[in-house]
Amino acid sequence: MAAEKIVTTTGLLGWIDERFPASKMWKEHLSEYYAPKNFNFFYFFGSLALLVLVNQIVTGIFLTMHYKPDAAFAFASVEYIMREVSFGWLIRYMHSTGASAFFIVVYLHMFRGLLYGSYRKPRELIWIFGVIIFLMLMGEAFFGYLLPWGQMSFWGAQVIVNLFGAVPLIGPDLSLWIRGDYVVSDATLNRFFAFHVIALPLAICGLVAAHILALHEVGSNNPDGIEIKKTKDPVTGIPLDGIPFHPYYTVKDLFGVAVFLFVFAAIIFFGPEMGGYFLEANNFIPANPMQTPPHIAPVWYFTPFYSILRAVPPLFQSQFPGVACMGLSVMLFFLLPWLDRGAVRSVRYRGNHFKVWLALFVVSLLVLGYLGTEPTDVWGRFSAGIPVIGGSDVATWAARVLSVIYFAYFLLMPWYTRWDKTKPEPTRVTW
Ligand code: HEM
Repeated sequence: MAAEKIVTTTGLLGWIDERFPASKMWKEHLSEYYAPKNFNFFYFFGSLALLVLVNQIVTGIFLTMHYKPDAAFAFASVEYIMREVSFGWLIRYMHSTGASAFFIVVYLHMFRGLLYGSYRKPRELIWIFGVIIFLMLMGEAFFGYLLPWGQMSFWGAQVIVNLFGAVPLIGPDLSLWIRGDYVVSDATLNRFFAFHVIALPLAICGLVAAHILALHEVGSNNPDGIEIKKTKDPVTGIPLDGIPFHPYYTVKDLFGVAVFLFVFAAIIFFGPEMGGYFLEANNFIPANPMQTPPHIAPVWYFTPFYSILRAVPPLFQSQFPGVACMGLSVMLFFLLPWLDRGAVRSVRYRGNHFKVWLALFVVSLLVLGYLGTEPTDVWGRFSAGIPVIGGSDVATWAARVLSVIYFAYFLLMPWYTRWDKTKPEPTRVTW
């Protein structure tokens, strides 16, 4: 049936259908894609991620019309966009707020996966494509951050590229190769621009297509974590708990889009810098290679991983253990489908072990994120009057304990999910 050519239309659409699978694709992916009828709040974030992706690309195109990827002009060209270009300020704030919105949406989208076990068989590839998208998104944000050529752009890039220097043997050559120079310079700006405006967006769009194709091949999971394909109507073959994506979820997602745009617009118009969390004050100062800013911290979405990096003590004066732990903390997401041995998928039917570990993981991520935004001298100040333990202050120890919890969530998962006392799953979705 699926392989058959569906030509049911006449006129222009019929003409197109004979040459291109327009109606076939519309049916397969929208009007006859049967999605579980119990999608909740957490299912808004996939379509919202798509919306933000489109926002970033469209506003990015307009920014590129006025931006100059040259160390001598980059900072001034961004100021020109903000002050002289018609609605340039709006386009720039939509793009910079969009970057943070992207991570908020994607983190909630990933959290939904953890809650309902959406990464588990047969959805491993959807998840793997997702984690690759996440890695690319981190790269995209990192490369983009250098472009305004402010103090934070420059010094942030300097710190992160230098981290690659900690890799044994090839480290120094590796960071030189990434920079294209001995310091972050015009050469670095040019290549980061190329990656930011074409290489990574292209890869992300391709991966998003693969992500959705893989999803539509196996069908969506749902908050009950049960397969709707197991209970089909004997006559039509349609899942009894499935409803056509269009019009039901297109309309529902439009509601999510409206609420999202309301909040997004409020931030853009009333607090685009978000108190320094979305756009840092130091980045409104032109890059100065001769003067290090007093406090270098990445943007909020990187700070949990940055905290892990800072928490790990150097070994023989090498920062490599910290760099390796930071890399591992993201890579572990790839293994989730195989680490989870639970009898059920959804948190609704899991036992207390899973729930406690998931809660610990979220708390550790949030507190690590907070600690990462604070300079290390504040870490020291937290501990004022409290004796330093083993040469490190209390905040450093807190970051260490939280990092251990973060890793334990993944590494102990095969055991605590298997030993968990799960509840029986229903055969039909509940709503
Ligand atoms: C540009 C970024 C992304 C876009 C545009 C995107 C888009 C989507 C869309 C439209 C859906 C279907 C609707 C929904 O279930 O919410 C979906 C499902 C899914 N996504 Fe993503 N996604 C992105 C990133 C990620 C990441 C980073 C992960 C995980 C690491 C991920 C994991 C999943 C999973 C597991 C599903 C299936 C969920 C289920 O059926 O319960 N996605 N994605």
